[in-house]
Amino acid sequence: MSFGIDDLPVRDELRGKSPYGAPQLDVPVRLNTNENPYPLPEPLVERITERVRQAARHLNRYPDRDAVELRTRLAEYLTKTAGHPVAAENVWAANGSNEVIQQLLQTFGGPGRTAIGFEPSYSMHGLIARGTGTGWISGPRGEDFTIDLAAAEKAIAEHRPDVVFITTPNNPTGNAVPPETVLALYEAAQAAKPSMVVVDEAYIEFSHGDSLLRLLDGRPNLVVSRTMSKAFGAAGLRLGYLAAHPAVVDAVQLVRLPYHLSAITQATALAALEHTDTLLKYVERLKAERDRLVAELRALGYDVTESDANFVQFGRFEDSHAAWREILDRGVLVRDNGVPGWLRVTAGTPAENDAFLDAVRDIKKEQSA
Ligand SMILES: Cc1ncc(COP(=O)(O)O)c(C=O)c1O
Repeated sequence: MSFGIDDLPVRDELRGKSPYGAPQLDVPVRLNTNENPYPLPEPLVERITERVRQAARHLNRYPDRDAVELRTRLAEYLTKTAGHPVAAENVWAANGSNEVIQQLLQTFGGPGRTAIGFEPSYSMHGLIARGTGTGWISGPRGEDFTIDLAAAEKAIAEHRPDVVFITTPNNPTGNAVPPETVLALYEAAQAAKPSMVVVDEAYIEFSHGDSLLRLLDGRPNLVVSRTMSKAFGAAGLRLGYLAAHPAVVDAVQLVRLPYHLSAITQATALAALEHTDTLLKYVERLKAERDRLVAELRALGYDVTESDANFVQFGRFEDSHAAWREILDRGVLVRDNGVPGWLRVTAGTPAENDAFLDAVRDIKKEQSA
């Protein structure tokens, strides 16, 4: 037997575990990781090149440790799109919202502390909790995948977690959490501990509803986390950010690595933020394609969870893994998130979505033959 992880003196809670990751298979149509299917427009690629060339001239120096220009531009973007004033001192940025979440758990979670999420939800919340030594509590969700407020409040009162995650729109189910529910859970979390409430808005630009940024005023224990990986079509950039009370921004700086955001990352993100208007036009296209997927899947007889995101959860399957395989056999990769009876498809280009719909239509036809 070859030498493996478990032969090393790794932490007990990591033994026997596998790393996070969707299968990366080489198939013609990949609709499994909620990426934006549209490459960045050429004028933006040119602008990135210019900005990066400029930054390259100073790579002998460490980058701006506090990423002030980037945080200022992110604050402007939030102010413009959420209709609520946000200042640079309210914003913090890191390498993807996964790193934002990790910094939050390093700051407010950690050994002897716990975090809760309402599952099924974004599984990295629990995995980052484990990586930071934070105990993870799997909170309940209703049969229809909405958060059952009474059950969620009960779980918070019982476990008194230090961090509460609310993902809206939720991944993998797609549905948004009403603002009243977020407010009620915030109150419940303050009464129980008080604890930090992290609203993960990775998909908010695709939502029918508004961002919850406007709830930040007067709620210093509330954090909204965002990403440029989805709406901005820049998953490869690795840029996530949060908005919160300035004290939260000060607090996460206690755990961030110095110079965690490279000068190249900052330059690229700044270029992308100069092109928000163009990038957000793709969001409108993707929302229309998402709605088409919902309508066509329903017309084919599938159950579909309401979606406010750039993906759609559909079912129900007796064996979702077998259904995943059948779709894959037709050249389309969707995601089996381990939610029994359900699969998730990301809204791609119209041609990719057609390929997916042809595949499921073909499966239905075969079943009824
Ligand atoms: C709900 C949610 N939050 C955060 C992320 C992480 O995004 P990133 O680290 O690319 O910013 C994802 C990615 O799929 C997600 O689904």
